[in-house]
Order: sequence, then C-alpha cells, then structure tokens
Amino acid sequence: MSENGSTQLFQPPVDFVKQATISGMGAYEALCAEARSDYTGYWARLAREHVTWKEPFTQVLDETNAPFFKWFADGKLNASYNCLDRNIEAGLGDKVAILSETDDGALRSVTYKQLLARVCQLANGLRARGIKKGDRVIIYMAMGIEGVVAMLACARIGAIHSVVFGGFSAQSVRDRINDAGAVAVLTTDEQCRGGKKLPLKPAVDEAIALGGCETVKTIVVFKRTGGECAMVPSRDVWWDDVVAGQPEQCDPEWVEAEHPLFLLYTSGSTGKPKGVQHSTAGYLLHAIVTTKWTFDLKPHDIFWCTADIGWITGHTYVTYGPLACGATQMVFEGVPTYPDAGRFWKMIETHKVSIFYTAPTAIRSLIKAADTTPAVAPTNYDLSSLRLLGTVGEPINPAAWLWYYNNVGGGHCPIVDTFWQTETGGHMITPLPGVTPMVPGSCTLPFPGIAATIVDETGTEVPPGKGGLFVVTKPWPSMIRTIWNDPERFKRSYYPDDFQGRYYLAGDGAVRDATTGYFTITGRIDDVLNVSGHRLGTMEVESALVSHPMVAEAAVVGRPDDLTGEAICAFVVLKGARPVGEAAAKTVKELQDHVAKAIGGIAKPKDIRFGENLPKTRSGKIMRRLLRALAKGETVAQDVSTLENPAILEQLRA
Ligand code: PRX
Repeated sequence: MSENGSTQLFQPPVDFVKQATISGMGAYEALCAEARSDYTGYWARLAREHVTWKEPFTQVLDETNAPFFKWFADGKLNASYNCLDRNIEAGLGDKVAILSETDDGALRSVTYKQLLARVCQLANGLRARGIKKGDRVIIYMAMGIEGVVAMLACARIGAIHSVVFGGFSAQSVRDRINDAGAVAVLTTDEQCRGGKKLPLKPAVDEAIALGGCETVKTIVVFKRTGGECAMVPSRDVWWDDVVAGQPEQCDPEWVEAEHPLFLLYTSGSTGKPKGVQHSTAGYLLHAIVTTKWTFDLKPHDIFWCTADIGWITGHTYVTYGPLACGATQMVFEGVPTYPDAGRFWKMIETHKVSIFYTAPTAIRSLIKAADTTPAVAPTNYDLSSLRLLGTVGEPINPAAWLWYYNNVGGGHCPIVDTFWQTETGGHMITPLPGVTPMVPGSCTLPFPGIAATIVDETGTEVPPGKGGLFVVTKPWPSMIRTIWNDPERFKRSYYPDDFQGRYYLAGDGAVRDATTGYFTITGRIDDVLNVSGHRLGTMEVESALVSHPMVAEAAVVGRPDDLTGEAICAFVVLKGARPVGEAAAKTVKELQDHVAKAIGGIAKPKDIRFGENLPKTRSGKIMRRLLRALAKGETVAQDVSTLENPAILEQLRA
C-alpha cells in the first residue's frame, strides 16, 4: 500500500512487456541477483558495456578512503565523446539529437554531427580564453540547445560546469561563483518564460558587483533576444565571437574516471547551498543505464524530459543520459501554462513524443487548468505517440497519478515514479516499465544494483509497514563524491557517525509494503522543503528574511499544499510593532520580494505571519513542531507546558 492509501496494482501492459529491454520480473530479479552475488563485478560489466573508455579501468570500487568512494579510478574517458562522437561513429551523425521549442513556439533542431561541431567550436573558444581542465565554469542560461552545448563544451575540455537555474537571483549566482571559485560564466542576454523576458546577463553583472567573484575572468553571452546588456570590454564577450572561426573539431580532454564532471548546488538543512560534486565515469554510467532501462529507450523514441538543465533532472535526463544513448529529444524553454495549459499536450502531439517525464506539480497544475478550462484537457489532443510516462521530484498523490495514467497515457502507458536526488545522480527507486506492477504513489523497487533499505534511528532495519529512514547500504557508481570545499559537511550530511559509516543517509523517510516490498517515500526528515519539486532549506529562507532591516527573527516551516506539494510558511518577528491589516499585507509583499531577490522566486514564502515573538522553550529553542501545526491550521493544545510564552500561539494562529 502506498502511504496515501492506494493499493490498486496496475500491471505493465503486455505489449510493453514484450518489447521491453528489461522484460518481466524474472529479468529484473536476475540482474538484482547478479549484483548481490558479485556487486563490483556487476557494475564493472555495465561500465564496460555501456561506457566508451579511452583507457579501460582495472580497479572497480576503491573503499580505502570511505566514505570518499572511487569507482573505475584508473580508467580514462570523456563524457562529451560518449554523448557525441561515439554516436556519430555508430552511424547516428544525421539523426536529430535535439528538437528545441522556444517559449514563443519557434522550432530548431540539431543533428548529432551539428551538435558535435557546435560543442567543439565553443570548447575551442573556451580553450582559447585559457579555460582548462579542472577550472569551474558557471552556466546561467536559458533552456535551449545552447545550454546543452555549454555543458558538453565544458566536459569536452575537462572544465567542471556548475549550472545555476535561471530562476535564481543575482545573489544566489554570486554565492555559487564564489564558492566554486569559477573562472568563467556562460550566460544568455535574456530568457523567455510565459511570454515574459527575464534578464540573465544583467543578473550576472549584479552578482559580480556584489563582490567576491574576482576569480571570474570571462563572461560569454549568448544572444537570445537581443535585449539590452552592458558588455565590459576584455571580460565580456559574445558567444558568436567566441565560436567564430573556431574549428569544428576539438580533441577531447581524456580525464580520469573520478575527475569531477560537474558541481550542482542544492539545499541542505543547514547553511548555504552545497556544491554536490559528481564524477565523470560513475555518473555517466548510471545516466546511461537508467535512461535505457527506466525509460526503456529505443532508437525510434522521441524523449522529452521537461526539467530545466539547472536541476539534476536536466543534467541526467536532458544532457547526459539521452545524448549518451543516441536519443532524439525535445528541449523546451517555456512553461506548461503558456500560451495556455494545453502547451505540453500540444507539443506531445506535434512532435510525436513517445516518452514523457515531468513533475507531479506540473501534473497537478494541469489537472486544475483542465478542470476549469476543458479545452486544454489532454483528451483534446492526439497523444497516441506516447508509450511511457514518468514523474520525478516529489511524491505523486494517487489522484494525480490516476489522472496522468488515464488522461495522458490513455490507460496504456506505464508510469515510472522515479525517486532519486541531486546527490544520487540518477534513479534509485523506480518501477521498470516492462517489469514492475505499479501502485499509484509508490516508487516501488530499487533500480537493479542499488542496495536500499529502511532503518530506525539506531541503524536497525525496520520491519515492513513501519516507517523509518531511507538509506543506501552500498556505495554506487553515480553517488555524490563530496561537497565542494567542504568534505566534513559531506561526511556529516550523508555518512553521519550514528551509523558508523555503514549507510548513505538520503534525508528522506520511507516505508515498505509488507506484501510487495514496495517503497513509498514519506517526505524529508530534515529541514529541507520541497516546493513544486524544488528543494529549499528552511534556514536559507530564514537567513533571507532576517537580512531585511525590518526583521528581528524568522522561522520557516513547510505545510502541505494541494498544488505545490509543500508551501513555505514563515513566522516573522519585526523589530518594530507587529503590523495588522493593510500594513501587514504591505509588509508581507515586501518580505516576499526580498526573499525572491535574495534567493529566487521559487523561495517566496506563500504565507507570512507576524508575531511579537516565536514559540520557544524555556531554554530559548524555537518549537518548530508547533509552528508546523499552526501552519497546517491544526490545534496545538497538547503539550505546550514547556513553552516560555504560550500566549504567542494565539497571535500566530491568526
Ligand atoms: O525528498 C525527495 C524528493 O526530492 C528530493 C531530492 O530533491 P532534488 O535533489 O532536488 O532532486 C529532485 C530530482 C531528482 C528527495 O530527497 N523526491 C524526488 N523524487 C521523488 C521524491 N519524493 C517522492 N517521490 C519521488 N519520486
């Protein structure tokens, strides 16, 4: 049974099973058995079969410096070679690699040969500006072909990219440049979303002006809209000028398997966002194998993952997975509701998308739109090209799952509810579409080779039906290698002493079903929020709030939200008097804008409540449990005896 009560089993369609790469439970169990009996042999076999190596590896897993594990360490390879050259060598040069649709509906496409040429030109251009192996490069770009080109050009020369989502603020860009010590920023003049033009290059300028970005020597600007942008001579250069005259060939930098392919900043429960460091080989291997097995990718598929490259989903299932598998994929710049909420369905119809992967939040917002405007319901479109659906990023409620299954998938497409994280690199717990009977709301079973279980606080495995902490019991190739600049935080966050280094601690709660053994994720167990599938730390939002001169103190909690999964609820104490009425509304707006400026629009608190104080224990600790209950509108009569100031609850309830 899934956490939200669904028990209905949906068998994978017979026709799907027949053609699936991993077909039937027997095939799945055979892979799991192989991994159990010879764990490293299993991953070594996959690494030899699916990755193209310049120099083969002889070592598989190196645990000598646990938990800083190494995989395939003496092998050499290049990720862009695996995504481009090897496909062309296999005869796919004229196959469309990327079909792109911009916000305003303009279409472009590139073949594998053209993509390689563009990646090489940019890579040569970056090399010409002195950017080399190991340098960090920030990518803050609109979603489109060039974003992918930017990532692969970095990989080509061994530079470590760090993509920053275009919705993050200048201050967030500054923090990431600073932490990564980036030498270059690749950006776009403006991006277009929902018919609006949003400046990116000006935000980079603002980031640099904030200080602490002295390492940046080059800013490359792709002209997307022709919008106004100031160019600083010698530092700023147009993309077109960087690639002009550059050869369409570029020798790949062959890097060690463990060479960092990228850093991707994500939120934790404490402190600033952390730079999750991924390796080249292990990461790429899992990107490839999960794309092939979870999505059952075939040569004729049109694959569409709607994620932005600013998130891990866009790294693994836009850039690296599909391209390394030689797929044709859609890349979309805009939002699902523009020009209307039929946009996704229209695009699936037009481009004959066969595999579609999106977030529960998008599904829920499109359900709501279809309810109010029946003309944009998916049933008005020809979605017969679809053969597989996927979801990612947050739990999917059974009602949304069923709607997706029936109205988008026409009742004949399996849904893969994939559970994973920035840190895991690729899918961890997921149905395989030709194998796993599905239960709405459950991510079902581990991907073959992933050793996962649920334990209690003492590290003891809990029996089925009992909730606990989701852990991974063996290192796997695509796991996070460290946190950039902060190995101690890596250990503390993922391999805490409580478990003597035995488990990778994901930070999620989970429960397994007694009959099926299926996992259901019950949500974060730390102070990390998941708003519309975007991860945010409560501390980050609190720091943003208290950086406003009016704010004395702030505490942030999540509360369930029908549309966004979780919503941010902030309890704020001002330095001046507690505002009421009109003044309160004005202050709410001001603080929301302030948080958007500090972090990005996604971090805006939905609710802000003002109190003269916060509920605290006699020792001064904020009682978040009570705040969570208040945010949900629950009564909090029980156990307030330890409260220093019980009267405050009444005020905050309002
Ligand atoms: O809480 C889990 C939730 O998203 C978190 C990871 O967020 P992030 O690193 O941003 O990566 C999102 C895309 C992989 C997890 O710790 N989560 C992700 N997928 C699911 C999920 N929760 C439930 N079901 C899922 N399928």
